[in-house]
Amino acid sequence: MKIAFFSTHRFEKSFFAENPPGLSISFFDAALNRQTAPLTQGFDCVCCFVSDQLDSATIEILHRNKIRLIALRSAGYNNVDLAAADRFKIPVVRVPAYSPHAVAEHASALLLSLNRKIHRAFMRVRDLNFSLEGLVGFDLYGKTVGVIGTGRIGSVFARIMKGYGCAVLAYDPIQDEGLIRDSVAKYVGLSELYGQSDIISLHVPLLPQTNHMINKASVAQMRRGALLVNTSRGALINASDLIEALKSGQLAGAALDVYEEEEGIFFKDLSDQILQDDLLARLLTFPNVLITSHQAFLTREALAKIAEITFRNILDFEQGRGLPNQVSAETHLRST
Ligand code: NAI
Repeated sequence: MKIAFFSTHRFEKSFFAENPPGLSISFFDAALNRQTAPLTQGFDCVCCFVSDQLDSATIEILHRNKIRLIALRSAGYNNVDLAAADRFKIPVVRVPAYSPHAVAEHASALLLSLNRKIHRAFMRVRDLNFSLEGLVGFDLYGKTVGVIGTGRIGSVFARIMKGYGCAVLAYDPIQDEGLIRDSVAKYVGLSELYGQSDIISLHVPLLPQTNHMINKASVAQMRRGALLVNTSRGALINASDLIEALKSGQLAGAALDVYEEEEGIFFKDLSDQILQDDLLARLLTFPNVLITSHQAFLTREALAKIAEITFRNILDFEQGRGLPNQVSAETHLRST
């Protein structure tokens, strides 16, 4: 099985170095999209990441090039036109869970840094500025944290927050019985969560019904001075509304690992270029906004698991076994 591996990053290559017998990998730095899809000629499988754009036109080219499998190295699949993949009969497999701890721990690291202004203190001390002015944070202990989405990652995040002595409010149409049994979280309606939380963290997938769920109207329901954390998907937040909320002080800060227009920006070194995205540029001017470049998953454990499950998915397909990690337009509809 010949695999075209797109959007290759140096940090992941070593985890894919020991491929099982029968699989051969060619690494491409380029992202897969309709311009680069012709590179897939002569391959059987494409292996893709969140920055690859598998729209209908791209998938049609894959079909013409006799690609038999799309293997995603991610949990999220909102960058794949599943209906088109179904139409061209190319199965799509993903890595549904690799390390919920990696993402939940990063969310908590962002929250702690934002609150205690570690990002500012680090820069200041390196400049021999040892002043403490402007660095006042608050105790997490005793605060209320609202967790939106208590699946694999949100439930781990809720338990971490409980460990800090926070009261955890949760919102998810599917409740996690373990969180209730262990008295970690109390499920409430979304309005109550917005109204009661000092910190709100997003752990829902990007779906039509969650797109821009954080907007002018939802921000208005939040406690004045709340902190917002997003390690899920950028488009959960309307960035213009977030900027207004930060300017007015309705939100006291935001910690973001994802951004709606991150494609073409995140994962790249653009340090010698002019940033063209004005909303991101504005967000970067706030001292109370902390942005990381979609790195919440980036632990050794998660990368090893991603490689292991990706190889297993490809071998399951090649050896004619069932595909437990397949996603299709039909399964997607059933799960939403
Ligand atoms: P999951 O599928 O285990 O949990 C998602 C939860 O959201 C489910 O419990 C579901 O019932 C709930 N949900 C769905 N629609 C909802 C709604 N409208 N309101 C409230 N809850 C809703 O997914 P998991 O593994 O916890 O991942 C969550 C998200 O994290 C992924 O969709 C992905 O976008 C993001 N992610 C980000 C990474 C990063 O590096 N920043 C890495 C991995 C995932």
